[in-house]
Amino acid sequence: MWKGVIETYRRYLPVSDKTPVITMLEGNTPLIEAKNLSKYLCSGRACSALRIFLKYEGLNPTGSFKDRGMTLAISKVKEEGFKAVICASTGNTSASAAAYSARAGLKCIVLIPKGSIALGKLSQALIHGAQVIAVNGNFDQALEVVREITQKYPVAVVNSINPYRIEGQKTASFEICDVLGKAPDFQVMPVGNAGNITAYWKGYKEYRKIGKISRLPKMCGFQASGSAPIVKGHPIKNPHTIATAIKIGNPASWKYAEAARDESGGLIDSVTDKEIISAYKLLASLEGVFAEPASAASIAGLIKLVKRGYFVRRASCVVRRPTIVCILTGHGLKDPDRAIASVRSPAVVEPKLDKVMKVIKI
Ligand code: F0G
Repeated sequence: MWKGVIETYRRYLPVSDKTPVITMLEGNTPLIEAKNLSKYLCSGRACSALRIFLKYEGLNPTGSFKDRGMTLAISKVKEEGFKAVICASTGNTSASAAAYSARAGLKCIVLIPKGSIALGKLSQALIHGAQVIAVNGNFDQALEVVREITQKYPVAVVNSINPYRIEGQKTASFEICDVLGKAPDFQVMPVGNAGNITAYWKGYKEYRKIGKISRLPKMCGFQASGSAPIVKGHPIKNPHTIATAIKIGNPASWKYAEAARDESGGLIDSVTDKEIISAYKLLASLEGVFAEPASAASIAGLIKLVKRGYFVRRASCVVRRPTIVCILTGHGLKDPDRAIASVRSPAVVEPKLDKVMKVIKI
């Protein structure tokens, strides 16, 4: 039986017998082969041999990858005796922090950028009893306030500047390697505050060090073009994108993300909102997998790189059929408004056979 990421990967994590494990059996998310997407992307191109997998992190208990880091962060907060936690969030961190805090009996305070978080995420933070404060500003400003509060008051920060968050999140690379029996050749993922790319890269490097894998993947991160500080090389004061989860102008783990890119020989690039929405719909319609817009930045990035011939050029010549893992960080149901706004509304008809059949047209 699956026991959650702490028990499963205990020997690679900073826990002891004294750590009270707060878990909802997160992790063990499926690595789904995307054969339809691969066929769609590669027909007529020289890349017909790509193997594309989706790491569906939206199937964690609160619907995003944050649970991997939160189980460890909250367990350590309990061990260290704090009574309250705080985070700034574009939504998913707050949902996860609120849920794990509820389970641990901790007070949870979350600062969110007013008007910029998806409905599902807000509902989660509220129902789990967090104190939700909307700030008249963006995520970066909210995180600044959180940093100040934790320097002055006995409240533990559970953003990814808390190293336990990164430790917990690195378990996703372990899972990918355990399933594939090796590391993928490429990993494609969204980048916001840059904690996740930092965590994956740490995980892969640790697995290689202990001989579980022999080669490392090339890390390909994607930011939204209106919120792409790493790509542009400077902080963005007023970031914008429909992918609210990654609407971040000054990522806390900026340097680590650059290190992951450079050490792996990968890249960090950007995709437009238009590309994100089209990838979002393509993924849902071709693979039956519903991921939130920020997660679709992975797929938009994948498409961009396939078009450029990147994978074929960058795969070493010993690799005949490069394996690519795209990380789908959050569930599509987190942001139902965006889904509805992206497709045609349902037809409205009288409850009569002929009226319905007129619309069905078979
Ligand atoms: N995808 C989703 C769905 C996210 O919620 C986030 C970050 C990211 C990607 C980017 O990950 O920040 O580690 O580079 N969400 C944070 C939050 C910022 O507050 O929920 P990152």
